[in-house]
Amino acid sequence: MAKDFDTMEDSNRSGNPTLHEVSDPARRLYLQAAGGAWLTSLLAPLAAGCAHSNPSAALGPRARMGFRAVPPSAADQLVVPPGYIAQVLAPWGEPIGIAAHMPAFARDASNSAHDQAYQLGMHHDGLSYFPLEGSSAHGLIALNHEYTDDGLLHPDGMQPMTAEKVRKSQNAHGLSVYEVRLREGRWEMVRPSKYARRFTMQTPFTVAGPAAGHPLMRTAADPAGLRVLGTLNNCASSQTPWGTYLSGEENWANYFAAGPQPSAHHKRWGLREKSSYQWDGHDERFNAERNPNEPNRYGWVVEVDPYDPESTPIKRTALGRAAHEGAWVALTRDQRAVVYSGEDARFEYIYKFVSRDRMRPGGAKANRELLDHGTLYVARFYADGRGRWLPLVHGQGPLTAANGFADQGEVVIKARQASDALGATRMDRPEWLSIDPRTRWVYCTLTNNTSRGQPGQPGVDAANPRANNAMGHIIRWLEAGDHDGETFVWNHLVLAGDPANTRPEARGDVQGDFFGSPDGLGFSPNGLLWIQTDASATQMNQGEYARIGNNQMLVCDPDTREIRRFLTGPVNCEITGVSFTPDGRNLFISVQHPGETPSERSDPRQPRRFSNWPDRHPDGRPRSANVVIRRLDGGEIGT
Ligand code: FEO
Ligand code: CA
Ligand code: CA
Ligand code: CA
Repeated sequence: MAKDFDTMEDSNRSGNPTLHEVSDPARRLYLQAAGGAWLTSLLAPLAAGCAHSNPSAALGPRARMGFRAVPPSAADQLVVPPGYIAQVLAPWGEPIGIAAHMPAFARDASNSAHDQAYQLGMHHDGLSYFPLEGSSAHGLIALNHEYTDDGLLHPDGMQPMTAEKVRKSQNAHGLSVYEVRLREGRWEMVRPSKYARRFTMQTPFTVAGPAAGHPLMRTAADPAGLRVLGTLNNCASSQTPWGTYLSGEENWANYFAAGPQPSAHHKRWGLREKSSYQWDGHDERFNAERNPNEPNRYGWVVEVDPYDPESTPIKRTALGRAAHEGAWVALTRDQRAVVYSGEDARFEYIYKFVSRDRMRPGGAKANRELLDHGTLYVARFYADGRGRWLPLVHGQGPLTAANGFADQGEVVIKARQASDALGATRMDRPEWLSIDPRTRWVYCTLTNNTSRGQPGQPGVDAANPRANNAMGHIIRWLEAGDHDGETFVWNHLVLAGDPANTRPEARGDVQGDFFGSPDGLGFSPNGLLWIQTDASATQMNQGEYARIGNNQMLVCDPDTREIRRFLTGPVNCEITGVSFTPDGRNLFISVQHPGETPSERSDPRQPRRFSNWPDRHPDGRPRSANVVIRRLDGGEIGT
């Protein structure tokens, strides 16, 4: 999504080098290797490792696609292939199932702030299915509510903004956990449920890792710097191998008002004079002039244990602060956690964290400190198809007190500035990542960056090879040896675009069904790669996107690079969030902001102007919702 809130951030003025030796770096490397000795040496340890523990052996061969593609669509409906059924589940405003209070959704948006704290939030994004006792028919959904459209959230929009509206907006943000069950071919929310839970701007989060208690994390309300109320703009999500949920705090900068002269630190993080949400008028925390450290308490990856409704969620500062899209875990062969993450902002970076300790059996409790100790790195992509992870470690290289990094806490709080200093590669808005367990290749969507190559902006480089990159691409890499490797080889899976576009940079090289602005990404248990798109309402069905249609979900076979369109969404929605039941027969997604306006804030007098999905009630309003997709014959999705 886009303009003011999600996509336009562009505050990297580091002058990091760009690589001009663009020579189609991509295709050369996917194991055709060009015979380079360096590549052979990089891959040798991987091959050796595979001989002992080939991850693909337990997973079976990758499935082949077996469905009929759906055509592009501009209709206000959700379309899946013949033989599939899509069921709407858990739209914004449904009571989540906390027994004490289950207020019904009011179609006129008249639910109170108190009601909203017991209902599903707005703008569903990343989600994960957590099985109960291993079941593919009974589990929990953990879900992010990225942001709000306050034009739809209140009967009279934001004019005027009041304390009650600010509280309702805050209660429509955050996370949800709800219980689901499959009965006679249909999924249902289980309500009430002992697991049902909302995390809002009033929920206490513990701060853990090197920034815990740091002077830059202390505020008048929290002099110890150890406890933050709330989580903000939670975008992508994942599930850890020890059974917890990871969620990224993305465009938190938009919630703060930094005044007419933001500090250099605030500026580097994209804070502006005024907040897009107008919370600061009623909640002092969001006045960053008066509370300059409050923004430092956002931009973290948060970890939640959905199985324990009494657990306190944790901000994991060792993973670095960023406009985090999300975070995704791989395990080294000796069971250390490697967490990949990126930040969706123009010209920002891709990170990885390697834990010091090994994962232990025993779930969340046994691994409570696993993500607090380890080494954080930022990626540098070279033009020859190689890359290197640069350590973000206090005292190493330029990351010294003399250069403004007093300790490791300051390095992680100022991860952007530290990455600037190291000369990391400035990317075209890293969104979701996904790790192929069969091959260990790591995939990352780079959604678009129309500023690339514009006057006064960084030019193209090998990893981000297109000027005015309106279409986006997907990059992938393979670590030397294991996931903790400090070097890697990389190439592009695909450059998105419509081959009929007149501008060469907007054509792409898609084999199969074309698309633009890849964002959500995830592997199904059968090894297919699912790609979700997020073109903005100002792009969709227009110009270079004229033939692409509404946002959609496609499937890719990473071995052949074939891409096939699986689903199209209603008008002006984003398709996001991808999670399968363990048997691969149920796919949960989010349909975010159907009917989004080009300004991203609806006119409360015309709530149904662009969409009335999914309720289609004459007095209703569009609602973000989770959708679960099944095959009519009960088979595996995608095959
Ligand atoms: Fe929230 Fe980068 O998408
Ligand atoms: Ca969106
Ligand atoms: Ca996006
Ligand atoms: Ca996204």
